[in-house]
Amino acid sequence: MSVLTHSPAWLALEAHYSVMAPRHLRQLFHDDPSRFESFSLHLKDILIDYSKQPITAETVDLLLALAQQQQLQNWITRMFSGDKINSTEHRAALHIALRSDQPVFLEGVDVLPDVKRVLNQMERFTTAIHSGARRGYSGKIFTDVVNIGIGGSDLGPVMVTEALKPYWVNGIRPHFISNIDGAQLTDTLRHLNPETTLIIIASKTFTTQETLTNAHSARQWFLANGGNESAIAQHFAAVSTNRTAVTQFGIDPDNMFEFWDWVGGRYSLWSAIGLPIALTTGMDHFYALLAGARDMDRHFATTPLQQNLPVMLGLLGIWHINFFGITSHAVLPYDQSLHRFPAYLQQLEMESNGKRITRDGEVVDYATGAVVWGEPGTNGQHAFYQLLHQGTQIVSADFLAPCQSQYPVGNHHRMLLANFFAQTEALMTGKTGQKVRSELQKQGMSSTSLEQLLPHKIFPGNRPTTSILFKKLDPQTLGALIALYEHKVFVQSVIWNINPFDQWGVELGKQLAGKILSELADDNPVTSHDSSTNGLIQYFKANQ
Ligand code: F6P
Repeated sequence: MSVLTHSPAWLALEAHYSVMAPRHLRQLFHDDPSRFESFSLHLKDILIDYSKQPITAETVDLLLALAQQQQLQNWITRMFSGDKINSTEHRAALHIALRSDQPVFLEGVDVLPDVKRVLNQMERFTTAIHSGARRGYSGKIFTDVVNIGIGGSDLGPVMVTEALKPYWVNGIRPHFISNIDGAQLTDTLRHLNPETTLIIIASKTFTTQETLTNAHSARQWFLANGGNESAIAQHFAAVSTNRTAVTQFGIDPDNMFEFWDWVGGRYSLWSAIGLPIALTTGMDHFYALLAGARDMDRHFATTPLQQNLPVMLGLLGIWHINFFGITSHAVLPYDQSLHRFPAYLQQLEMESNGKRITRDGEVVDYATGAVVWGEPGTNGQHAFYQLLHQGTQIVSADFLAPCQSQYPVGNHHRMLLANFFAQTEALMTGKTGQKVRSELQKQGMSSTSLEQLLPHKIFPGNRPTTSILFKKLDPQTLGALIALYEHKVFVQSVIWNINPFDQWGVELGKQLAGKILSELADDNPVTSHDSSTNGLIQYFKANQ
């Protein structure tokens, strides 16, 4: 047994779980009609309602005791003060510095001047593109921006640009190429004119195979379609921490936007990795995004734990995962603009907390990161909600929605929100056999048919959801929402005593792919792997 699962706070929660497990959420609402007031929190335009969670005031106290036992406050201070809390890579995790307006120190040096320098460079570049001061090789203004990157160098910019479509600058269209599958590159570039296309190569390390391969192919496309070597400097920019590799690729160092090793890939959209966001929505909106995140940072760093939004969200996840055994978590935005938000959170949560070794090098004996997935509502309702309502697995879910639509059409937004409220209510209350019986009797159904149908129409309910409402999906609110989840992930990592800022689990596949790639280069039989891998490679070779 680990220190954690042996600890007084953990054992107290285990004992409390056996009291709470049999209590239906319906009953909890019946016993305490003021649950909404007790279990909801606000920050500016954001409201989080967690009253439809299997908790009482005692649960919250016990979860807070666990956070205190794990020294959460101290870890928050350490993160904000630039301690090298990414211990396996000997780095700080200072994404908060990217949106700070106060000095942030790393080894005694304020990093803010560097952050501001790059923001100014982004601003100059963005202004020059938008004003037409900077043009393509033939003198035409830029109309298309292609970001080539993957993982954290793609998902943040894609998610944010999609979410902020109402803020797009006239005349600029963003495109994203991440997959090594040539389909995405071909499909994207075939619609574009090299004369008016700006290509950003975004890679923290500038060694990622997919990104560099796509970047080389994009350069060939540029040269084969009218561009020439001397025009590359006008049309290609890079965002990276690796100046040497950028220069080797042939990109003019003046067109390189720097960031730093203390920014994790999946925490990097606030850095120059956000350049496509700035180019698409304008620098003012990028600054507003940063300001929203800053509000959440301040709240996280200074608010007592019991009123702290990321803390509460993180602790609810702990309650689900470690005590109820709920390890599947759905993110359900009732906002089409947030259609890539679940994918973004998938990387944020699963790459950060999908770990099995503690900070002390021990194998954990408790569950860590949940499986995170989701789709916008109401689409999901007509696809997978069946399992959420009546399946055998319990899935926890975050429902998110704006009160004001950015696309007002007739009664659409009210209908959207009616579905949001109905689903969270249905997941909580369910539908009893008694109620189903009385409905079917009213329809005049014969008793034999009624008895046959009845069990199929029962909804057990008692499915935990958190509802997150905000006034409008503007850049500031979006920034705050993203930072909310970043800090939620950090809170959970502290409870689990794991490092959320490394990602060693992605290395093995990369290594093996490198070896296999060389084996695919000829027709020779491959025998160096297990029989399954050999067989699959042989089948591919025979049929390629
Ligand atoms: O392979 C995983 C990963 O390292 C992610 O953590 C990262 O966001 C992504 O690849 C891209 O890395 P880079 O920005 O260095 O190309």
